[in-house]
Amino acid sequence: MKQQVVICSDLVSELTRELQNLPKESVFILTDENTNKLCLPIFFDKIPVAKSNVCVIKSGDSHKNVEALASVWQFLSEKGATRKSLLINVGGGMITDLGGFAASTFKRGMRYINIPTTLLGAVDAAVGGKTGINFNGLKNEVGVINPAESVFIDTVFFKTLDHQNLLSGMAEVLKHALIATSTDWDKVSAFDLEKFDIDHLKPILADSIAIKERIVEEDPYEKNIRKALNFGHTIGHAFESISYEKNTPVLHGYAVAWGMIGELYLSHKLLGFPKNILIEAVRLIKEAYGSFFISCNDYDRLFELMTHDKKNDTKEINFTLLADIGAIRTNQNTTQKEIFEALDFYCDSVGI
Ligand code: GLY
Repeated sequence: MKQQVVICSDLVSELTRELQNLPKESVFILTDENTNKLCLPIFFDKIPVAKSNVCVIKSGDSHKNVEALASVWQFLSEKGATRKSLLINVGGGMITDLGGFAASTFKRGMRYINIPTTLLGAVDAAVGGKTGINFNGLKNEVGVINPAESVFIDTVFFKTLDHQNLLSGMAEVLKHALIATSTDWDKVSAFDLEKFDIDHLKPILADSIAIKERIVEEDPYEKNIRKALNFGHTIGHAFESISYEKNTPVLHGYAVAWGMIGELYLSHKLLGFPKNILIEAVRLIKEAYGSFFISCNDYDRLFELMTHDKKNDTKEINFTLLADIGAIRTNQNTTQKEIFEALDFYCDSVGI
């Protein structure tokens, strides 16, 4: 399920080449309201796509739902799209997830490509073939694994992002380095997160995406090693969910960064992950991402969120941990006591 990932120096010529043999009426763009305003004008007039073939849906993860999905199917159907038509998803993870699912299911599967416009989307959602929507209050509850034909990444779009959204994407880059090699970690941890020079980011971005591609190629259906891409996410998702419950929402990457503090601690405690790297990573995350306030009164709820199922009274949670940088250990059962200790470590490390 190899997909073509291109870090473009010229998106327009890349797209022009891609579209050259396709009739204009068979090319469609899916985007959201924000991206339509901020990113599409950067290249739309220079590519052979009809304005009437641009489908714009509402922005935000809350709209990654079955109604928006149905509206895309409706659009494609009314415009006479066929299996040979091409859908170009232009946006963040919400658009590439939903658009990828719409394309994978319309006429039992039409061609699609992704143009991620956020750093988070470029390093994570747009690559690797996971598609889907939220359903019944659960994130990514319905979807399929079906990779885009091509992913075109142009860092020009990242200039439309604020510093927080850049940092949010960077958390996944940090994660990729930790599950890869010390060389990757040294390069990524030396990147100046405050200055955030996007031109300096380019080689790091290419390496980071290549790490994800290698893992996905080895295990596309997440039977084993792909679980490494969830590093930091078990605790991170619980932080993200509780932040919404407390009406103080945090960006996904921030939650993952804080989640990695807890999961690096578990890695150290259970598998002997080197203490010096733990300390270095904690310092880096604390300095760049600050902290999200939790108290020990939140631990039970966080644990419940980690189990993902309130009816399930399990006292153990399965993590992917690291015995060292790149030394991935999947299916590590971790007790509630150890997780609470990791939360204590998080609170102590970020100074709350
Ligand atoms: N977002 C993690 C993965 O693609 O597996």
